[in-house]
Amino acid sequence: MATIKWGIISTAKIAREHVIPGIQQGQYSEIYAIASREKESAVNVAEQLSIPVAYGSYEELLADPAVQAVYNPLPNHLHVEWSIKAAEAGKHVLCEKPLGVDAQDAEKLVNVCRERGVLLMEAFMYRTHPQWVMAKEYVTSGKIGELKAIQVFFSYMNRDPNNIRNRGDLAGSGGLMDIGCYPVSLSRFIFGVEPRRVMALVNRDPEMKTDIFSSAILEFERGHATFTCSTQLMPYQRVNILGTEGRFEIEIPFNAPENRSTNVYYFSSDGAETRQIAPCHQYQIEVDLFSKAILDGTALPTPPEDAVANMRVLDALFRSEKSQNWETV
Ligand SMILES: NC(=O)c1ccc[n+]([C@@H]2O[C@H](COP(=O)([O-])OP(=O)(O)OC[C@H]3O[C@@H](n4cnc5c(N)ncnc54)[C@H](OP(=O)(O)O)[C@@H]3O)[C@@H](O)[C@H]2O)c1
Repeated sequence: MATIKWGIISTAKIAREHVIPGIQQGQYSEIYAIASREKESAVNVAEQLSIPVAYGSYEELLADPAVQAVYNPLPNHLHVEWSIKAAEAGKHVLCEKPLGVDAQDAEKLVNVCRERGVLLMEAFMYRTHPQWVMAKEYVTSGKIGELKAIQVFFSYMNRDPNNIRNRGDLAGSGGLMDIGCYPVSLSRFIFGVEPRRVMALVNRDPEMKTDIFSSAILEFERGHATFTCSTQLMPYQRVNILGTEGRFEIEIPFNAPENRSTNVYYFSSDGAETRQIAPCHQYQIEVDLFSKAILDGTALPTPPEDAVANMRVLDALFRSEKSQNWETV
């Protein structure tokens, strides 16, 4: 079977722990090369994860004609710069979320990829996990009645000042960009339209200056999405989707484990139903769908314009932080 040869820009944790193993288990994907700013790091990770080629610079990986698709898990402020370089080298790009530091930044990348004729997708792996495919199906088939409300909680504890999320000096750091982007994305995905206006309450760390605890309301034409996200709170994640006739709850909406089943719950006037989702590797599903789109032209699960639309909502949330008021998207 034909496979796509993947090159990884950097030895990022997410690449080492989830995405490279996902590529290795993929049907249409093959791990080929990894690059790091330090040759030694690239060589070490290549040895540990059985990656054939290791480069001591991102440029060298992009210059290798054998690399067909690039996965970009750099810190957020480098997503657009290096994804553009990859596109200009003729590589298809799977880029980590959020696609850019703001909508304008993300749009620049989308335009370059369109001009160069390469595929681009924001790596929101949750969207193609079967539990989310099921959630969307329950909503569109009317099983919860008329969709009215989405409630999301996403938090973890990380006070390490050297972590890229806590580097207030870097554009794109902070909790809203790191995990607030998920509730924004899933609310748009489930409602199937863009929110009209948003309001955010944002708390920042006094030293690091990054946003660490935020709550927001997104007003859609037919309902509301609300969320709280925090990078300095007890770890927790949960999503509830409520309609006039039912409720759909996802127990582990974002970090669904690879080695055990997960539960979703459906409640209606007929009673409660637990659906167990068999273990699956959401990163493998993501990279394989991307590889398949390159190989046979099937549509990407999410078009790149979706990433720009997501950033527009995040931009509006940051404007709301400043104005202390509703902001249109
Ligand atoms: N979809 C998901 O499930 C998920 C989960 C976690 C994170 N993410 C996203 O993935 C990205 C990486 O997150 P991570 O936690 O894996 O990051 P990380 O471990 O800190 O890795 C980032 C890598 O970028 C490279 N790098 C280049 N310039 C850098 C700079 N100025 N400062 C720091 N690192 C630099 C480094 O690799 P070299 O030294 O090898 O060059 C570093 O290992 C972020 O965009 C994040 O939002 C996504």
